[in-house]
Amino acid sequence: MMITESASGKLILFGEHAVVYGRPALAVPLSQMRARATVQAQDKSGIVIRARDLKRELSVKDAAADDPLATIVRVTLAALGVTGNLHITVESDIPPASGFGSGAAISTAIVRALAAYFEKTLSRTEISALVYETEKLYHGTPSGIDNSVIAYEEAIRFVRERAPETAGSSRGTARAVIRPFAIARSFPLVIANSGIASPTKMTVGDVRRGWEREPARYEAIFDSIGVIVEAAQMAVARGENEALGDLMTQNQRELERIGVSSPEIEDLLAVGLRAGAQGGKLSGGGRGGNVIFYVEEDRVDEVTRALPGAGAVSVIVTRVGGTTTGD
Ligand code: MEV
Repeated sequence: MMITESASGKLILFGEHAVVYGRPALAVPLSQMRARATVQAQDKSGIVIRARDLKRELSVKDAAADDPLATIVRVTLAALGVTGNLHITVESDIPPASGFGSGAAISTAIVRALAAYFEKTLSRTEISALVYETEKLYHGTPSGIDNSVIAYEEAIRFVRERAPETAGSSRGTARAVIRPFAIARSFPLVIANSGIASPTKMTVGDVRRGWEREPARYEAIFDSIGVIVEAAQMAVARGENEALGDLMTQNQRELERIGVSSPEIEDLLAVGLRAGAQGGKLSGGGRGGNVIFYVEEDRVDEVTRALPGAGAVSVIVTRVGGTTTGD
């Protein structure tokens, strides 16, 4: 028997970083980019994982305790109460370390494929909790938003319930309130990939050090981001999408203040805005990864054409909301 399951990428629309500190954030799945995992029996004993894109092949038994691929297999088999001699192949068209949630998508695809292979059912919350275990290895102190939006595969508002753990003690599952949010009118989003790999662990760690140094300043910035997120949620619920451009630009300013922007991101933003985007911001960990733009329908082509000249290695257009979110 051979079972293949997949999982989407994700985009954070508003609220990254502040979400680690208990403020709300809005995220959507990006179904046009997917990770896939295939599980089949093998003759040899043990479990081998072959990650084609990462050019890795590893034996779960011999892998380091903190290897994310081996970890997701170990925790999933333990949760399902099963074992076996398995060959797991992983493929992904989500660029790693780019803010699209590639690690969480690969883990989610593996959990889904293992559950299907053993004919077990896991709820979205259970899948998300398993994937969170590997997110801690990738991110250090993740909020849990990436594993949640990918496991739920719908537009979510995410609020982490408790204060962030101190660095080095990231055990346990983050408790969070996760709700789908209403999008009255769908809208296009232009996404420019800067091509700069920027591991989230680094930016999340740097923000933490900044927050430890200047807690009052950082808390005030996170509060401002929280206000922007609330305004954005209200705007999309009412179909007042035209407010999103300014709100993105305001959110970007706050992200710059906590040091997660970069000259490359700012070049992309400047060019996108000059080409007619109403607003834009980095999305995800920052210092690389992707930049998103809110663009009125009739300017989408112009903005899309301008961005490669400013260093974007790829530009995609997605639709947020309605039945076509990320399709
Ligand atoms: C990463 O996609 C989003 C961050 O807010 C980190 C997190 O929430 O875990 C930067």
